[in-house]
Amino acid sequence: MKAHAFALSLISTLVAGAGFAGEYDTIKAQAGEDFFHKECYRCHSVDADRASYGPILEGVLGRAVGTVDGYPYSEALSDAGFVWTEGALRAWMEDNDALVPGTKMRHVGITDPTVQDFIVSYLATLTK
Ligand code: HEC
Repeated sequence: MKAHAFALSLISTLVAGAGFAGEYDTIKAQAGEDFFHKECYRCHSVDADRASYGPILEGVLGRAVGTVDGYPYSEALSDAGFVWTEGALRAWMEDNDALVPGTKMRHVGITDPTVQDFIVSYLATLTK
């Protein structure tokens, strides 16, 4: 009986924990959207109906680098040959010229890991 009660309380703790995690992700993504609007939106659209100077970032997480159809990438980015993971996106925001030397994206230099985290959470919501 005791073990049963323990198992039940463990389950409810896990469920509550999962609830918080979901809520935290939503809050982080909302904060990330604000940072994105401040730091990235002037060059990057997140919606196929709006043209932008930089490539559209809808669906960027998990996408191969330099593969938006019709976008005139630099040679450096077209030849980069990797996939946008969370880690790669952080490294790109921090120092894009170091990650892909020769890119034509202006250096943005977001070094605060919390801000990187928020922006990645937001980008992760931009699935197609
Ligand atoms: C001044 C304009 C500008 C700003 C600001 C800017 N970008 Fe870019 N971004 C570009 C351009 C131009 C490219 C294409 C680079 C190339 O072809 O070498 C690019 C490319 C990218 C790519 C590669 C996409 C792909 O299809 O492989 C990612 C990811 C990206 N930017 C994310 C960001 C994020 C996140 C921010 C904000 C923190 C940001 N950029 C801010 C202009 C900008």
